[in-house]
Amino acid sequence: MPSLFSPGDLVTLASTDECGVIVHTWPSAELGGLEDCYVAFFRAELPAPGAAPPRPPYVARYAATSLRHVRRLEPFAIRPATPADLDALVSIERAAAVRFEPFGLADVMATVVTPREDLERGARDGGLFVATLDGVPVGFALAHPLDGALHLDELDVLPAHGRRGLGRALVEAVVDLARRRDLTAVTLSTLRSVPWNAPWYTRLGFHVLAENAWTPHLRELVAHEAARGLPMTDRVLMRRLLDER
Ligand SMILES: CC(C)(COP(=O)(O)OP(=O)(O)OC[C@H]1O[C@@H](n2cnc3c(N)ncnc32)[C@H](O)[C@@H]1OP(=O)(O)O)[C@@H](O)C(=O)NCCC(=O)NCCS
Repeated sequence: MPSLFSPGDLVTLASTDECGVIVHTWPSAELGGLEDCYVAFFRAELPAPGAAPPRPPYVARYAATSLRHVRRLEPFAIRPATPADLDALVSIERAAAVRFEPFGLADVMATVVTPREDLERGARDGGLFVATLDGVPVGFALAHPLDGALHLDELDVLPAHGRRGLGRALVEAVVDLARRRDLTAVTLSTLRSVPWNAPWYTRLGFHVLAENAWTPHLRELVAHEAARGLPMTDRVLMRRLLDER
């Protein structure tokens, strides 16, 4: 009998609204080969489409006939960028700027975008990571070495795929690269009061870097941001030291 489910399928229990994710399937001798049995994680509520995969409280075994298929969870991946990705990344950065509408900054953020040559450099030197959904780019992070640290120049995720942990996964890919290159920290420049900027980076282990601790290169970088027309009111530099977490 062909298997009805495979790992990654979101299912509900036929008799209740409990739901879970199939983690393993196997043919059941106990059931005379008529049905497969499944180990699934279950919890009380169906996650909304686009929400993060459930982190459910327990594992249970069910016959396939007692489960109903809902959908497959979408496979995300983080990988180094290739030159073929670059056009998509430009569009992602522009689209991500819409999040700044409540702050009156959407237009400037969609206009002052990462120079193409910086993306090309990142794809060449390994400092550019892409988040993909079913192989299609939906987010990216660009970083370059600066003063013994890796500086995160740009981070964007398409709004339709926001708040599922992709931004965090991209930041961690940059942190991991810094560690592999024996660098001491990751630095970045961001806005103090936008919730998905400084407050969010604080939750990821970054601290605001006092102005008297800015290196000459960081000062140059901030001056360059101002010259490009990026909003500078409320701007802060942040740093995550790599031996801290
Ligand atoms: C920053 C960005 C890349 C994060 O991507 P993401 O995939 O949504 O990131 P995550 O899902 O890992 O975390 C997002 C966090 O931002 C915060 N956040 C996002 N939207 C928010 C909102 N409307 N209100 C409050 N907090 C919000 C939350 O802390 C959220 O975490 P949570 O969902 O666990 O509460 C994305 O918001 C983006 O592209 N923004 C526009 C460009 C930008 O600001 N880049 C960074 C500039 S330094």
